[in-house]
Amino acid sequence: MRVHVADHPLITHKLTVLRDRQTSSPVFRQLTEELVTLLAYEATRNVRVDAIEIQTPVTKTQGVKISEPRPIVVPILRAGLGMLEGMVKLLPTAEVGFLGMVRDEQTFEPTTYAERLPDDLSDRQCFVLDPMLATGGSLGAAITFLFDRGAQDVTAICLLGAPEGVAAIEKQVEGHDVTLVLGALDERLNEKGYIVPGLGDAGDRLYGTA
Ligand code: PRP
Ligand code: URA
Repeated sequence: MRVHVADHPLITHKLTVLRDRQTSSPVFRQLTEELVTLLAYEATRNVRVDAIEIQTPVTKTQGVKISEPRPIVVPILRAGLGMLEGMVKLLPTAEVGFLGMVRDEQTFEPTTYAERLPDDLSDRQCFVLDPMLATGGSLGAAITFLFDRGAQDVTAICLLGAPEGVAAIEKQVEGHDVTLVLGALDERLNEKGYIVPGLGDAGDRLYGTA
């Protein structure tokens, strides 16, 4: 598994505002979208393209276009939905599929309550969106689900990750082509399974339910 942790002052600046408990839901949503677009630039580095020839107003030249079958973007509901717009801004031709997951706050076990994805993901490049990688239960289950449907490779974009979650995913996806792109790698998980220093509950902060 490849792990890329962002190292850019704009990303750190936006994450700092996002972490601040005083930041309102509208600002939180806007920053989430902007951060995803910045992270998507790195996450799509290996998107498959085909060579094409085009005609400019001046001459013929060689270029590329995103290969078929198109990549698929999969936000993990609920909080991952806040990342969708920022991603499709950069990858407007991608197909979008959905996975609804919620973790039990006592056992940290994820349950899948919704799924809207093609039955066959053979040959598809998949981009999973979830702001928080805590224990790794939710993201690990999502990635396993996509590989079970035949996905060729999976790139996950998370705003924040805990070392425990990264290690859990690494163990779970051995032998598969997985890339993890993080806005920041935080210190640890606390006893409630929250990322420290983190930003609290991403879904609650996005949707004003705290
Ligand atoms: C949060 C978050 C991740 C998950 C991370 O979702 O958005 O999906 O927890 O925790 P894990 O790595 O320990 O699995 P939550 O289950 O709170 O659902 P929500 O998105 O509906 O708020
Ligand atoms: N889910 C969140 O929203 N935040 C955390 O810190 C951990 C799991």
